[in-house]
Amino acid sequence: MADETSAPTPPTVLCPLTSAAIFLVVTIDPGGEAVTRDVLSDLNSLQRSVGFRAEPEGRLSCVTGIGSEAWDRLFAGPRPADLHPFRELNGRVHRAVSTPGDLLFHIRAARLDLCFALASEIMSRLGKAVTVRDEVHGFQYFDKRDLLGFVDGTENPTGAAASAAVLVGDEDREFAGGSYAIVQKYVHDLAAWNTLPVEAQEKIVGRTKLSDIELDDSTKPADSHVALTTITGADGTEREILRDNMPFGTVGRGEFGTYFIGYARTPGVTEAMLERMFLGTQDAAHDRILDFSTPVTGCLFHVPTADFLDDLPAPPGVRSGALGADVHTVVAKPESQPRSSDTSLRIGSMKRSAS
Ligand code: HEM
Repeated sequence: MADETSAPTPPTVLCPLTSAAIFLVVTIDPGGEAVTRDVLSDLNSLQRSVGFRAEPEGRLSCVTGIGSEAWDRLFAGPRPADLHPFRELNGRVHRAVSTPGDLLFHIRAARLDLCFALASEIMSRLGKAVTVRDEVHGFQYFDKRDLLGFVDGTENPTGAAASAAVLVGDEDREFAGGSYAIVQKYVHDLAAWNTLPVEAQEKIVGRTKLSDIELDDSTKPADSHVALTTITGADGTEREILRDNMPFGTVGRGEFGTYFIGYARTPGVTEAMLERMFLGTQDAAHDRILDFSTPVTGCLFHVPTADFLDDLPAPPGVRSGALGADVHTVVAKPESQPRSSDTSLRIGSMKRSAS
């Protein structure tokens, strides 16, 4: 764990928006805990190995999230205070589903090849220890627009406000510097959306489409997306999250979507927004964006600091201070070995043999 005298190195949650991203959600198979721990503790160096050659313009980063049930299978000792499974929401019309997810890898870079190379290395190392539940390759679309045609990300906090919004502070000292991520993969009904006049679309989002200006309070409907996701705390100040949504799609299948990812200091802020979107308020039945956007996944993760990954706490069932070679025999089962059909791109070994 981090030295108590130095601030822990936060995860790369706060990195600027990139042109490409891969969102990988996996569950850990029974017996896969030891291999998973090995890979988690190597992630920072894996990221450096793939990314260093493309620095500085490549900007490769990987944020790793750990789900509530997985936490207790991987680590003994204290848990992040606000870590719990994603809470399903059943509105009168729309439903926020909760789907399986033990680990999240949010891999970002200026180029998709870098994301792909790191995702391949991670999966090759995890092998048969995990099952992939969802893999989305996202791209930046014109002017940072989503596939509904609106600029997405404008009101994200920046600088000190962003750090304050997303990084755990003294309220949970053991996990200070970490964060929480909620992800949902939304599929859009673009055919229906495109029948709407632009003015109607703008009233649904709460901003103008071309110029990306927020509608004023007299014209912005209470059931618009912006109205329902703007929330204030008991002290009257705005509660913010950091979003890094990405468009994705498969034209041949007619699939057009937005991968929502929201980072927050406590998942309660994102959950409050989701409740307003799906369950509505006194003035709004639900967020109208949901009439054209259906979430097909929903997961919640704690995102630990880089120091936490570099120096993992003991696994469950091992006395603290008794960490050593025997740790793996405590939790490893035979089926948790890396798969024999290694999918690694072997970029590292290509390099080695060339030198
Ligand atoms: C704002 C799109 C889901 C939270 C916006 C904006 C767009 C947008 C276009 C306006 C520009 C901006 O400030 O970024 C989408 C799409 C979604 C989605 C296409 C999925 C279909 C969500 C979800 C949440 C959320 C699930 C939270 C749980 C926010 C917040 C804002 C925002 C906090 C800024 C509100 C403000 O302060 O003005 N979104 N969003 N969004 N969205 Fe979303």
